[in-house]
Amino acid sequence: MPVPKAELHLHIEGTLEPEAALALAARNGVDLPFASAEEIRAAYSFTDLGSFLDLYYALMAVLRTERDFTELADAYLARAAAQGVRHAEIFVDPQAHLTRGVALDTVLDGLGAALAAAPERHGITTQLIICFLRDRPGAEALEVFEAARPWFGTLVTGVGLDSTEVGCPAAPFAEVFGRARDAGLRRVAHAGEEGPPPYVWEVLDVLGAERVDHGIRSLEDPELVARLARDRVPLTVCPLSNVRLRTVPDLAAHPLPRMLDAGLLVTVNSDDPSYFGGYVEDNFAAVRAELGLDDETLRLLAANSFHAAFLPEDERAAHL
Ligand code: HPA
Ligand code: ZN
Repeated sequence: MPVPKAELHLHIEGTLEPEAALALAARNGVDLPFASAEEIRAAYSFTDLGSFLDLYYALMAVLRTERDFTELADAYLARAAAQGVRHAEIFVDPQAHLTRGVALDTVLDGLGAALAAAPERHGITTQLIICFLRDRPGAEALEVFEAARPWFGTLVTGVGLDSTEVGCPAAPFAEVFGRARDAGLRRVAHAGEEGPPPYVWEVLDVLGAERVDHGIRSLEDPELVARLARDRVPLTVCPLSNVRLRTVPDLAAHPLPRMLDAGLLVTVNSDDPSYFGGYVEDNFAAVRAELGLDDETLRLLAANSFHAAFLPEDERAAHL
């Protein structure tokens, strides 16, 4: 039985499996430049974050209706449950859908139906975090944020920041993160995936991020490590993602053990499991096999996932 855990870094669009993409393309009359699941999998050969994002955004074209989003999330939750996930804080990229003409209520109500059913259907509690695309304008993020207000507190519990990191400063998103704080939402941001330590400092100091997604390059700056350790800022690490996007040369060279040794609150997550070769327990199994982590360390990583989750204390305690 996989160890019970929370998944805190999971892009719902990154759970779109090739078979599902083809079925949705047929159902929705969307032309895809791929004729088979094998052809799609053959395109999963990435050289960096950008080469992945190109395919990730292109395949989203098949997601058109509320039902599509419900089925996408339900399929993820079924797989997650089988991998020991008891609580999932799920990312969605509204702008990736709005910019291609899919309305916000289609996306959020579609996902919301699957998430509402998840405790009974899959034994998983959930939260939804709307991420802003850092390669698009801050003003657009503000519009999306305001449009999403009807879902705050009920479905949407946090905001995040993702997409292209290097060359895209976080500062234009300070206003929307401030509004999120004022609205009682939680704040997370991708940083230190491809970008050097100043990108991590920026999301902490300028955005007030409460968790850093990836953050693996933080180790390059001892002062930053001290800050993250002192404040117990969780880092949601995604080992298979880092290998596939070549931010690390191979799993054996992954900084996860050094991050743990440095006293950081690290968790293990799947990021975009359809694209990166595994769901969260597959990531646990990979770090066990390739980094030689023992059972005690794996249990610590699972416990960290509940410590880092945005759960009320009584619910957190029930998991530990
Ligand atoms: N990094 C940045 N943006 C993303 C990722 C990622 O790993 N996955 C989906 N959007
Ligand atoms: Zn991510």
